Amino acid sequence: MLICKRSLILFLLGVFGADADEVKSVSVMEGDSVTLHTDVTDIQRDDQILWMFGPRDTRIAEIRNQKPNTYDETARYKGKLKLNNETGSLTITNISIRNSGLYKVEIINSKETSGRKFNVTVYDEVKSVMEGDSVTLHTDLTHIQTQDQILWMFGPRDTRIAEIRNQKPNTYDETARYGSKLKLNNETGSLTITNISIRNSGLYKVEIINSKETSGRKFNVTVYDASADNRSHVCAVTVAAAVVVLVVFIGIVVAVKQSRQRSHEEGISINHLNNDMRANRDEVSVPLAAANGVQHPPCIG
Ligand SMILES: *[C@@H]1O[C@H](CO)[C@@H](O)[C@H](O)[C@H]1NC(C)=O
Ligand SMILES: *[C@@H]1O[C@H](CO)[C@@H](O)[C@H](O)[C@H]1NC(C)=O
Ligand SMILES: *[C@@H]1O[C@H](CO)[C@@H](O)[C@H](O)[C@H]1NC(C)=O
Ligand SMILES: *[C@@H]1O[C@H](CO)[C@@H](O)[C@H](O)[C@H]1NC(C)=O
Ligand SMILES: *[C@@H]1O[C@H](CO)[C@@H](O)[C@H](O)[C@H]1NC(C)=O
Ligand SMILES: *[C@@H]1O[C@H](CO)[C@@H](O)[C@H](O)[C@H]1NC(C)=O
Repeated sequence: MLICKRSLILFLLGVFGADADEVKSVSVMEGDSVTLHTDVTDIQRDDQILWMFGPRDTRIAEIRNQKPNTYDETARYKGKLKLNNETGSLTITNISIRNSGLYKVEIINSKETSGRKFNVTVYDEVKSVMEGDSVTLHTDLTHIQTQDQILWMFGPRDTRIAEIRNQKPNTYDETARYGSKLKLNNETGSLTITNISIRNSGLYKVEIINSKETSGRKFNVTVYDASADNRSHVCAVTVAAAVVVLVVFIGIVVAVKQSRQRSHEEGISINHLNNDMRANRDEVSVPLAAANGVQHPPCIG
């Protein structure tokens, strides 16, 4: 399996939406930091900023009378909140799954109240897999208990793709998307997708249900087209070849000019000119070979 660090960075930039009333989606990997922006550049004296979280609009941070305050003494936020006293933007550091949810900010001044909403999703894991490879999504259970129920889901509609119920493992991979690609480990509940294809990219969720509680994990799986890397390799070589062709062309132009001058001055024949061209081509064929040897930088393994 190939993991590209680059894709993790791209993933962390996953902030969409612009409208004031719209809920902005923010995707963050567990352990990373995320900043939710108010878009206020300079807080005015009478501005009040109020940050809220969750279904009960629990107050988690505010700026009132120019005094910033965070209410992060709870287990959920312990020391994780940083409030920018100039912009009112809120940073959540070392984010965890339980920080997932709906964040709201209200900016209140004497004239008006404006606001923004952020839907923050924290992923346990981001996996980048090359097409044709296998990937295993782990439940982190070492041993399934008799009463444990494991449910694997895929995509925006949480389509059930595999489950362990009453100790019976089952995969629902008769669809074209999964045609016998799924392997469910009956000891740990972990799911392996073999010979993965682009259409297996997406959000995977697992729910672990027992008599006491329900826990879960989320995985953002991105499958890379194996030929895409080859294509950029080919592209690099093509550019290198184009440069070489240009050098040859300039060489010819120079040669033609020089030969013309010489043929004017000394009356040299066209045959000599052709030899000049060949000589030029031989000279530049060395960088062409070198360019072909240039390897496309590999992904971090
Ligand atoms: C999964 O990660 C990719 C980039 O790696 C990103 O473009 C995509 O939006 C993410 N999916 C979700 C559901 O967050
Ligand atoms: C804002 O915070 C900085 C340090 O982070 C501090 O120097 C400054 O006095 C603060 N301003 C206000 C208005 O609290
Ligand atoms: C981040 O949080 C986890 C618990 O959620 C904790 O174990 C870890 O030490 C924290 N890391 C840092 C750098 O604070
Ligand atoms: C937030 O995003 C998650 C996953 O993308 C989605 O399931 C949930 O419905 C969204 N919540 C809101 C309030 O938009
Ligand atoms: C788990 O699978 C192994 C073979 O992969 C089988 O021998 C064993 O009986 C299975 N256990 C259960 C509880 O289904
Ligand atoms: C992997 O899947 C592709 C189609 O997605 C198929 O052509 C190929 O035969 C499969 N390879 C294996 C080893 O199953």
